[in-house]
Amino acid sequence: MATTAPVPIPIPFPPTRHERSALILYASETGTSEDAAHALGGIAQRLRFATRVAAMDGGGVNVNELRKYTIVVLAISTTGQGDLPRNGRKLWKSLLRRSIPAGYLRHVDFTTFGFGDRSYAKFNWAARKVHRRLQQLGANEFYGRGEGDEQHDEGTDGAFIPWSLGFKKQLLESYPLPEGIEPIPDEEFLPPKYILQIAEPEIDSDTPTQNGTSPDMNEGTNDPCLKEVFDPADLITDETPPPPTIIDIPGHRVLTLKKNLRLTADDHFQDVRHLALEVEGNIGYQPGDVLTLYPKNFPADVNSLIALQNWTSIADKPLSVVDSTAHPTSPPYTAALIDLHFPVGRRPTLRDLLTHNLDITAIPRRSFLGACAHFTSDETHKTKLQEFSNPAYTDEYFDYTTRPRRSILEILQDFPTIQLPFNHALALLPRLRGRQFSISSGGILRQPNGKETTTFHLTVALVRYRTVLRKVRQGVCSRYIASLKPGTRIAATLSDGSLNVNAEDSLLFRRPLLLIAPGTGVAPMRSLIWERDMILNQEDELRSIEVGHENNAEEIPRAKTVLIFGGRNRNAREGVRPRHHPARGAAGVGDAAAVGAGAAARGEGRGPA
Ligand SMILES: Cc1cc2nc3c(=O)[nH]c(=O)nc-3n(C[C@H](O)[C@H](O)[C@H](O)COP(=O)(O)OP(=O)(O)OC[C@H]3O[C@@H](n4cnc5c(N)ncnc54)[C@H](O)[C@@H]3O)c2cc1C
Ligand SMILES: Cc1cc2nc3c(=O)[nH]c(=O)nc-3n(C[C@H](O)[C@H](O)[C@H](O)COP(=O)(O)O)c2cc1C
Repeated sequence: MATTAPVPIPIPFPPTRHERSALILYASETGTSEDAAHALGGIAQRLRFATRVAAMDGGGVNVNELRKYTIVVLAISTTGQGDLPRNGRKLWKSLLRRSIPAGYLRHVDFTTFGFGDRSYAKFNWAARKVHRRLQQLGANEFYGRGEGDEQHDEGTDGAFIPWSLGFKKQLLESYPLPEGIEPIPDEEFLPPKYILQIAEPEIDSDTPTQNGTSPDMNEGTNDPCLKEVFDPADLITDETPPPPTIIDIPGHRVLTLKKNLRLTADDHFQDVRHLALEVEGNIGYQPGDVLTLYPKNFPADVNSLIALQNWTSIADKPLSVVDSTAHPTSPPYTAALIDLHFPVGRRPTLRDLLTHNLDITAIPRRSFLGACAHFTSDETHKTKLQEFSNPAYTDEYFDYTTRPRRSILEILQDFPTIQLPFNHALALLPRLRGRQFSISSGGILRQPNGKETTTFHLTVALVRYRTVLRKVRQGVCSRYIASLKPGTRIAATLSDGSLNVNAEDSLLFRRPLLLIAPGTGVAPMRSLIWERDMILNQEDELRSIEVGHENNAEEIPRAKTVLIFGGRNRNAREGVRPRHHPARGAAGVGDAAAVGAGAAARGEGRGPA
């Protein structure tokens, strides 16, 4: 029998200043610092702190909120060029307000841990600037700040693990447990905050399954053989694509895929795609802006996990998400608050969550293996899983998961005695995150069909490789993109990039331009070349109107554009192979060494390739 989770202990919210309480905040793009924040939250919880873990911009977090907790810990990643991740920018902005009185945070005990990569010029700048600002506002550093580096042999864990052990020691020293109270032992499972429950009424006949069929599809058939043996899951093969369900992602737009073309030669190892997506309306975007696509897991993998965990009987029932530690003053639960995206207009099922929200083929972090140890009754499996999750056995964890790129699904297959409770799925499985892609269109490519529709081009290198065990692996979004057929409608979000090119600045566009781009780094460069071309053409047209058609306006010579492109295959198709355009002056790129990435390169457009 697998261990059943103990009943959660309610945590008062918001705590008053004098309670033993911890606020653990994270600002994360891809989940590293979010996971770390949960690990730190676990440490504080075991030391009997009433603990809240949230995004810096999570519900109800503001400058005033920081003063309500005994300790505040911030796990902050750096993105862009030394910037804060998007889910931390609001709080950062409010911390910068001049109206905050001096010493406003003098009662706050805090520390920070930064997640970054030393290969970037502004290593860990986001955490450093938040730390410095909190000190300026009077907050006290109760434990020295730490910094993780992706370039370390063990990634950011190389610094984070020892730092978190020191953090625990410091908490015990600075905030000793009251007489007679012991820490919660590591062997005891900490109940998650958000749990899943089957929604009432239990059977909702309107809820379609992933195949768009009713769960009772055997009902009503006259074929007795079919009635006995037919299972919709039998129709699913490894290649059955994910369902086209539109997911309600905040700020999303529904785009229609128009083209999904392979650009590289068939015999080249890398499959690079040109995607053209279209949306209704006039949507503005700049060179450097990014489109986020939201991958989905494949039905065969979802079915496999459901079967392994014995979740078949509840997989298609509508669910609700419940805050198990809710207090009457808790901020209202919303799916967006915990990064969940549900199908539009209906309650999610477990199958929906496993398809759209939870990354079942991710390489697991240690914490997942540690949690699994609680849910097996097989002592050998339990010991092995505890060993993998123990920071003292780094090599074992590395050799079993990271090096062979072993996924969560494969681990559950290796350890069939693990039986995870479905209502803990949100806490146990990592979030399936959107993947960002630089937009490679710009200028006149933005609205080739008039103002009613906007087009986005993406240049995507599909991730596909062999592991040390000779298994073929595909990136989760790469596999999803490869499966998309023209005509498919998908949800995507648009956000600002960090190229910081202002298309209005025509002086900038008159200067010579040197662009250096390896691989799909060419995407924003292509956008910029098209943008510059359009703006300069518009200016020339305007000048000729101002001067008058009869007196031909003197042409202003255009500055050169030089693109240095690093590709891996000389025999690549025209789409990604650099081409020299000695006589393209009239078309607007001067004598650019330009690159074609997509349709225009195949002669479908005028102007730069
Ligand atoms: C701002 C921004 C803009 C971007 N723009 C583009 C763009 O224009 N075009 C583009 O193609 N991508 C772009 N990316 C990258 C893109 O977002 C995805 O990361 C990429 O498509 C892979 O996603 P995936 O889900 O397919 O792979 P995942 O499932 O996330 O897997 C990727 C992981 O696979 C592992 N891996 C990959 N290759 C190997 C190998 N040979 N051996 C062992 N492990 C390996 C690595 O650990 C890697 O982290 C951009 C990223 C950012 C942050
Ligand atoms: C687009 C991008 C920009 C980045 N910029 C920086 C940077 O300026 N400085 C830095 O130290 N690390 C930078 N990094 C590295 C990340 O901070 C690092 O990988 C971190 O572990 C990611 O954490 P997260 O998963 O919580 O977002 C960048 C990573 C990406 C993908």
